[in-house]
Parts: sequence; structure tokens; C-alpha cells
Amino acid sequence: MYKALSLEGKVAIITGGAGGIGQATIELMVGRGARVAIADIALDRAQAVAAKYGDSALAIEMDLTDEDSIKRMVVRVVEHFGRIDILHNNATAVGQHLVAADNAIGEMSTDTWDTFFDTNCRGTMIVTREALPHLIASGAGAIVNTVSGMALQGNIRFHAYSATKAAMIQMTRAVATAYGRKGVRCNAVAPGLVLTETVAKDFPPAMLKLVLDETPRDRVGAPHDIAEVVAFLASDAARNITGQTLVADGGVSIHIPGFSAYREFFGE
Ligand SMILES: NC(=O)c1ccc[n+]([C@@H]2O[C@H](COP(=O)([O-])OP(=O)(O)OC[C@H]3O[C@@H](n4cnc5c(N)ncnc54)[C@H](O)[C@@H]3O)[C@@H](O)[C@H]2O)c1
Repeated sequence: MYKALSLEGKVAIITGGAGGIGQATIELMVGRGARVAIADIALDRAQAVAAKYGDSALAIEMDLTDEDSIKRMVVRVVEHFGRIDILHNNATAVGQHLVAADNAIGEMSTDTWDTFFDTNCRGTMIVTREALPHLIASGAGAIVNTVSGMALQGNIRFHAYSATKAAMIQMTRAVATAYGRKGVRCNAVAPGLVLTETVAKDFPPAMLKLVLDETPRDRVGAPHDIAEVVAFLASDAARNITGQTLVADGGVSIHIPGFSAYREFFGE
């Protein structure tokens, strides 16, 4: 492996690491030499993931909407591993009920809006604030925020989720700007659709076809596609990259409007 991609000796916190993209990132990071703390509201699932990696992984219960649990989590990581070099802010408010309630603003309930903002923005801010002194002490601290392609374009629904992810893109630039001279980089990855186990279970086939028709690549994303980007941005190979949002969506967001109709017109 190219040496700068190595994460040997580094300690990473991965929020929401009990499944999906976070879990794939843990596998990759441990494979590249890191020790990881899996901070998740679902302790049993986090422990099941940690069990695969022996002394290299530690599961910690943390709820992004509970400030004390976040503070306890960071203290525990430092007590256990002695340092923090990488923070992957990856957890998000989840659940079919929340997705179903995430309407257009005209039909948005205040509670739904607040749940997304409390979890994704307030929670991520607190994790970042608590981890920052340790990332600075690392001398080469790196934060990677998982945002979403939905933060970059308007949609008919999902107005709360997409607004939180857009706010996280701005947090990424702000943290990168304020802490760059203190040795901390902060970047984001914006996935398009990623067929995690949870997403794949309930994803409507008609919507999957729609996404594929609009994607220049002939596939939608897999968790490891995103994990590769996170591990790169967290590594010294990305030492001159900060404040950026890397879009990993197979090209769904980069093309002319009506892409699928143009493909049909040109017989492709
Ligand atoms: N899967 C996709 O299509 C997709 C697309 C774009 C962006 N993303 C983003 O990628 C990230 C990971 O998504 P995923 O699809 O792997 O999700 P996932 O549902 O598999 O994992 C999310 C994790 O967050 C945890 N979590 C939920 N609420 C929490 C809370 N309050 N405190 C702590 N942990 C909590 C869950 O237990 C879960 O383990 C998210 O930020 C998501 O917004 C996903």
C-alpha cells in the first residue's frame, strides 16, 4: 500500500459505525492500521462490529441528541486509546418514520425539522467541539463529515435532512478554516444513493431505476465506495486537502438536465 494511505498508529472515532457506511469504514481503517472507537446509539450492534477486530476496536454507546453521552464517549476514547487522530462524523437521524415525515417545507412538522437538526447539526457540532482539543494535540488531526448529494440540489421532499447536510458542508469549511493552522484538516464526502443493508431492504424499485437512469456510471454506490473516500481524506495522502466536499455519487449530480431522455434520444 502507498505509505501515505497507511493509518498505522492512528486512533479514529466513527459515529454511526454500527452499520452501513460507518461499518465499511471501520473495516478499511482497521485494515490500514488504525484503532477505532465505534460510537453509536445501538450499542449491541456496535459491539457486534467491534468483536470482529479484537483490541483494535471499542464500542461505545452515544446518542447524538444527548450532550452528556457525547462528552462521556470522547473521554472514554482518550482513556482507552490515549489519543484521537481521526473523527468520522457519520451518524445521522434514521428510521422509516423519519424518512416518511421528511416532507417539503410546506408540509413540514416542527418536530421532524428539530429531530434532524438536533441529531445531524447540533450533535455533530458537539462531537467535533469535544474531539477538537485531542485532534489538535495529535498534530495531524483529520475530520471527515458524511454529508449527502441531497445537500447540493433541490428535491421535492426530504427538506429537513438535505438542509442539515448543507449546514454540515458549511461546518466543514468553517472548521477547516479556523483550525488549519492548528494542524487539523476537515473535509466531507457526499455520497449519492448507497445500497446499505438498511437502504436495500426498503428501497422502492421504481426509484432505484430512476436513480440508475440518471447515473453516468452503470451502478449505484456500495458502502465500501464511500469508505475508500473517507479513509483517503483521513490519511496523510490528503495532507493538502481541507474544507472540501468530495462528491462520490457515480456522476448523478454532474450532468445536463434530462440526462436519461438525452440517452434515449441518442439511442444509448
Ligand atoms: N445510504 C445512503 O444512500 C446515503 C446517501 C447519502 C448520505 N448518506 C449518509 O451516510 C451516513 C451513513 O449512512 P448509512 O446509510 O450507512 O446509515 P445507517 O442507517 O446504516 O447508519 C447510521 C448509524 O447511525 C446510528 N444512529 C442513528 N441515530 C443516532 C444517534 N442519535 N446517535 C448516534 N448514532 C445514531 C444508527 O444506529 C446507525 O448505526 C449518514 O450520515 C447518511 O446521511 C447515506
